[in-house]
Amino acid sequence: MAVVVMQAWAAGSCKSTTSRHSKEQVADTRQPVKIYKANILYTPSAERLEVLAGGYIVVDANGRVEGTYPSLPEHLKDYPVTDYGDQLLIPAMNDLHLHAPQYRNTGIAMDMQLLEWLETYTFPEENRFASVDYARNIYSRFVHDLWLHGTMRSSIFASIHPQATMLLADLIDQSGMGAMVGLVGMNRNCPEYLQRSTCDYVSDMRQLIEHLEGMPRVSPILTPRFIPSCTDDMLDTISAIARQYNLPVQSHLSENPSEIEWVKQLQPESANYGDAYYRHGLFGHTPTLMAHCVHTDGEELELMARQGVVAVHCPTSNSNLASGTARVRHLMDGGVKVALGSDISGGNTMSMVAVMQHALQVSKIVQARTQGREKSLTVSEVMWLATKSGGAFFGQIGSFEPGYEFDALVIDDSNLASGHDYTLMQRLERFIYLGTPANITHRYCSGKDLPEPKIADIYNK
Ligand code: GUN
Ligand code: FE
Repeated sequence: MAVVVMQAWAAGSCKSTTSRHSKEQVADTRQPVKIYKANILYTPSAERLEVLAGGYIVVDANGRVEGTYPSLPEHLKDYPVTDYGDQLLIPAMNDLHLHAPQYRNTGIAMDMQLLEWLETYTFPEENRFASVDYARNIYSRFVHDLWLHGTMRSSIFASIHPQATMLLADLIDQSGMGAMVGLVGMNRNCPEYLQRSTCDYVSDMRQLIEHLEGMPRVSPILTPRFIPSCTDDMLDTISAIARQYNLPVQSHLSENPSEIEWVKQLQPESANYGDAYYRHGLFGHTPTLMAHCVHTDGEELELMARQGVVAVHCPTSNSNLASGTARVRHLMDGGVKVALGSDISGGNTMSMVAVMQHALQVSKIVQARTQGREKSLTVSEVMWLATKSGGAFFGQIGSFEPGYEFDALVIDDSNLASGHDYTLMQRLERFIYLGTPANITHRYCSGKDLPEPKIADIYNK
């Protein structure tokens, strides 16, 4: 079956789908065109928070950072400077795991654990995206909320519905933000109404890929929901497509004890949950995101590190669905790449700033539980996770080092800081613990100051 489907895929008109993972911009000039002055903070590495009080950042014509300077270099003295005064300038947020069709369920229905939660609340809501009108209503609000919270790049699970998913991609493209968008693959262990055959998934994905051609910052990602939702045939076929067209993959891993037990029964030959993906060629064979990894340890952790699979830590979701406390320090010490995700609607907030805060707090619970062996995360580390570490999945995103795309937030924290002598580092810390979208005055993606996206004017049926 997998072979037949692959032939159908190859016979289709899916041109130039190679190397879709990172879309290069055409470099035409290195001439600096924009200079910004502000209190600049960014994290070139997990432990290193770079702070430039009243510094300058120079952005070239392609929207990439040319350099940061404590004072304006002589040769740039004649260029106009956008002066953000005493505001903070930080890299924009990157959300590496969230479900757009669960947006309406955000902040409700979190009284169950994963498998029951999916059946009771999540699958029925996702089914509503068979209607493009419903999708336009919800997805326009979803895209607005990404912008509002300063999340300039995201890796999104859509639903099984191609029309609604293409609409979602259109809305993100129009907003100027960047995203990877995946049609969800599922053909077993869920209601009939959410099942798509492997063949249909392949042709739907091809349609999506063609639709995204020409969108500079929106690209496709293969999205098998998780092992229980996909037959061997579907997993093998998705893996073949991933490798043939070098497409990234996203899924869920080791989130909940009942889920892990179920995967053991479904894939008895696999040494662990991660190995089940590995055996089907979906574990780092192309760039791979695995959400949660709450219970990942031992051989599964080693396999993730060896395969370069990114663990997407979703602390708000893990608390809401009583999944547990992910051991981020243990993952990082074991050489696993880590990023952060809101996991809407397991997570209760689109704010990656709130997710950073919760990551800090959960890491302290883990520290206490391990009698101090697994040390809690620092402010610099969570900032790095939400910016440079997550951004790496999209290209040179999430830092202000030369060559990085200028994805940035301007933060007016005067309501949090005025009248006090906080250091810039403390002001960042207070923004993480106390900040709201009202503190964000500008949102830049790839060098552009993005205007507020429109919300669809459709009656909420
Ligand atoms: N595992 C499979 N599907 C889902 C989902 O929609 N949300 C979460 N949190 N875990 C999942
Ligand atoms: Fe999820």
